[in-house]
Formats: sequence, structure tokens, C-alpha cells
Amino acid sequence: MLYLWLKAFHLIALVCWFAGLFYLPRLFVYHAQSSDAVSHERFCLMERKLYRGIMLPAMILTLVFGIGLLLINPSWMTQGWMHTKLALVVVLIGYHHVCGAMRKRFERGENKRSHVFYRWFNEVPVLVLIAIVILVVVKPY
Ligand code: HEM
Repeated sequence: MLYLWLKAFHLIALVCWFAGLFYLPRLFVYHAQSSDAVSHERFCLMERKLYRGIMLPAMILTLVFGIGLLLINPSWMTQGWMHTKLALVVVLIGYHHVCGAMRKRFERGENKRSHVFYRWFNEVPVLVLIAIVILVVVKPY
């Protein structure tokens, strides 16, 4: 029973985390295209609130509930799909922090990258999400 509650909150937290992982790089696309000071200030505010207010707490909660699930059922750690999933989670945490570094660069007015770069960068979490969902649901190995 506790296991199912933890799983429910694990899923709620990861949906919130991914909302940010998809939307923040999208804001970077628009931010990189803008040139006036008013837009810059507004994008900086939106990016900061999204990163600190949603993405960071949602990431922590996803990890806490995920680790809780593993503590209740440690036998998942003997399965190959879980090892791959955890490796992809490390990639995702790295992506999250790269987003944080990019956000600060925008804030300092030092962004050099084009909107095309951020469009491609935006696709990375899509691929990771597809891979993780297939791994945890199909459990192929
Ligand atoms: C430290 C990080 C994480 C740990 C330790 C962890 C661990 C777990 C565990 C033990 C389960 C239960 C598996 C089952 O009962 O079949 C689970 C379910 C799930 N996890 Fe994670 N997880 C983590 C991060 C993530 C992330 C980042 C995602 C998002 C891409 C994710 C997506 C899912 C999904 C979709 C399920 C539901 C599977 C099902 O109901 O069949 N997890 N997780």
C-alpha cells in the first residue's frame, strides 16, 4: 500500500519535473530570439521562477520517492533495466544542471547560442523520457 502511494507521488513529481525540463529550454529559444530589454527582464524572471520554484523541488521529490520505492523493494536493483534507468536518471540530473548554468548565462547577458541550438537541446529530455518509460513499464531485461 505504501509502495503504491510512493509510486503515485513519484509519477506526480516526475510529471512536474518534466514540465520544466521541456519548458525551460523552450523559453531559451524565445529568449535567444529577443533583443529588447523588457523581454530580457521578463524571460529572466520566468526562467528563474520555473527553475527554482518548480524544477528543483520536483527533481528532489522525484528522486526521494524513487529511492523510497527502491528501499521498499530492493530486488529491483538486481535487474538490468533498473541499472539502465538509473544511468539515464544521472543523464537527466546532468541536463537539469546544464539548464541551470544556461539560465545564469542568460541572466548575465552572456548567451552566445542561437535559438536553433536551443531547439535541438530541447529534444534531449524527450528521448530520455521515452527510454525511461519503456524501461520501467516493459522491463525488457
Ligand atoms: C533516483 C531516481 C529514481 C529511482 C530510484 C526510481 C525508482 C523507481 C522504482 C523503484 C519504481 C517502481 C517500479 C515498479 O514498481 O514497477 C519506479 C517507477 C517509475 N519510475 Fe522511477 N525512479 C527514479 C527516477 C525516475 C525518473 C527520472 C523517471 C522519469 C522519466 C521515472 C519514471 C518512472 C515511471 C514512469 C514509473 C512507473 C512504472 C510502473 O508503474 O510500471 N523514474 N521508479
